[in-house]
Amino acid sequence: MRTKVIAGNWKMNKTPAEAAEFIMELKESVKGIENEIIAAVPFVCIPAALTASEGSNIKIAAQNMHWEEKGAYTGEISGAMLKDLGIEYVIIGHSERREYFAETDETVNLKAHAAFKNGLKPIICVGESLLQRDEGVMPEHIRYQVKVALLNLSAEQVADLIIAYEPIWAIGTGRTATAEQAQEVCKIIRDVVAELYSKETAEKVRIQYGGSVNAQTADSLFSMPDIDGGLVGGASLKVNDFTVIAGYKA
Ligand code: PGA
Repeated sequence: MRTKVIAGNWKMNKTPAEAAEFIMELKESVKGIENEIIAAVPFVCIPAALTASEGSNIKIAAQNMHWEEKGAYTGEISGAMLKDLGIEYVIIGHSERREYFAETDETVNLKAHAAFKNGLKPIICVGESLLQRDEGVMPEHIRYQVKVALLNLSAEQVADLIIAYEPIWAIGTGRTATAEQAQEVCKIIRDVVAELYSKETAEKVRIQYGGSVNAQTADSLFSMPDIDGGLVGGASLKVNDFTVIAGYKA
């Protein structure tokens, strides 16, 4: 049985002081929830969020990292820096990073390797645009993204990471994919992992759905056989909504 994993992606929201206040409130309301709970906060909020989360079941994550260890990369943050702070997960290849910061499937793969090298677990995002869906190339696109993202990773590494299926047309639009649409693609992703590695590895990798997940839609999405939780943007900024989503029970 795969443990459900519900991750909040705060994007560029909250100051360190606001992050600490939010996590203090959230940790009371998610007490006792058995799903894995993650909050991916802005880099500068990580120390305050980690302190606030002490003694709770909330894990703090980063939203990005660079693939190089160190050097002349102004404004970037390395895996070693994140590991030193004491975090476990890092989001890689979010569609906003791909669209606004020119990230590619190749840099996603470099970052995934760098994450593991530094003892971090990647949450790798993939997803199709509305045009790709309408033109019928969604399955090829998803398969390609997953294949390149995982290139030269070991089966043990793949079993340990998270893949987030986030259709671009559903992100921040209020237009959630239906549970059936999301399940179809999460199944495609699991099948690709089975082809590349083994059925056993595919059964271990956790696959999230993301894109306008809210307190009303989470239940039907997370009850699908290949959906192991969610990557939640807007609704992760509200304690009550995120608590309902994170508290999903089969
Ligand atoms: P959303 O964002 O829930 O606000 O659509 C999800 C994401 O981008 O991870």
